[in-house]
Amino acid sequence: MLKSFYFYDMITSKLPNVGTTIFTVMSKMANDYHAINLSQGFPNFPIDEKLQSLLEQKTKENVHQYAPMAGLPALTEEICNLTFKHYKREIDASKNVLITAGATQAIFTTIQALIHPGDEVIILDPSYDCYESPIILAGGKPIRIPLGENFLPDWDLIREVTCSKTKIIITNNPHNPSGAVWKKEDLHELEHLVIDYPNLLVLSDEVYEYITFEHAHLSANSSEILKNRSIVVSSFGKTFHITGWKIGYIIAPENILNEIKKVHQFLVFCVNSPAQHTLAAYLKETNVNTLGSFYQEKRDYFHELMKNSRFDLLPSEGTYFQLASYKQISNENDIAFTKKLVVEHGVATIPLSVFNANGEDRKLIRFCFAKDNDTLKQAAEKLCKI
Ligand SMILES: Cc1ncc(COP(=O)(O)O)c(C=O)c1O
Repeated sequence: MLKSFYFYDMITSKLPNVGTTIFTVMSKMANDYHAINLSQGFPNFPIDEKLQSLLEQKTKENVHQYAPMAGLPALTEEICNLTFKHYKREIDASKNVLITAGATQAIFTTIQALIHPGDEVIILDPSYDCYESPIILAGGKPIRIPLGENFLPDWDLIREVTCSKTKIIITNNPHNPSGAVWKKEDLHELEHLVIDYPNLLVLSDEVYEYITFEHAHLSANSSEILKNRSIVVSSFGKTFHITGWKIGYIIAPENILNEIKKVHQFLVFCVNSPAQHTLAAYLKETNVNTLGSFYQEKRDYFHELMKNSRFDLLPSEGTYFQLASYKQISNENDIAFTKKLVVEHGVATIPLSVFNANGEDRKLIRFCFAKDNDTLKQAAEKLCKI
């Protein structure tokens, strides 16, 4: 008898340490236990009616075939206008912009295009989960170091690990999961770093660029020095409450973007055409300036609701995330605590330790407040009883 033979027995994983992400685990647990889901970062309220009706209108037009590889010119032009309006940066729609299937694809494609075996890439922890794997797949070496006080970069430590092998530093401002927003000094430190290391590039994840509260966002786009050395990543998902559309873009110098386009064309070739047509029209009619105050109200509302709880809320100056310490409530590790929160108290959150390479547990959990006020109220009622 023939011995049964499974091909998959022979597979050597390229990402042996990657499992199901905590976001999937927590969203599933939220479903299973009918809990309120403040874990994964997505809004639960309707999109702007204008955007909704433009989408309906556009889908009735001739928009259903492949878009141009780098993006629909009408959309890349609007991105140029937006970039000039907010950052006073003049860019060329045909040379400096690439439309991507969300920020995740933008980051993956950039790393595949620019990282060679042995190259080092600095990641600042706690960090979003889509940075490390593309580096490993490209044969690069992730150098994960902790952020400093208040979740801002520790520039002394960054300088300690930067060397001639360092090709990219990945920065994320405004910062997920902490909500920290860079100060002027941080931008200056980064400018000095790229001056001192002429081969170093910045992969600047700015997906929450329009969601800041007390301070304005400082983009790499607005720095004369950084704009020539950065790949700046944006996400319409975050800006227009359309995370499911998976659409974003890269702004980069032409020579760098040309390399990124080479990978992009074999990864996706081009991005969802109806979405591009819709966004090109919507950008003409909308103003992203109100996004910060919209989420600031949500943050303040959540703070007010939580003021009598035993959670200690840390400052959140941007994004739609809020860190909270539960030290007054429990000594358990953060993963055990978040699981208990779902099962026993009906609220799903994310433990901070999963954003750290070393799994450091600081007894902090992350709430997402991109939810309608009713959801926030119901969640806070449960949390205040603990
Ligand atoms: C910091 C950060 N970068 C990138 C992404 C991915 O964005 P997108 O959904 O556009 O791929 C997210 C999404 O949560 C994020 O928080």
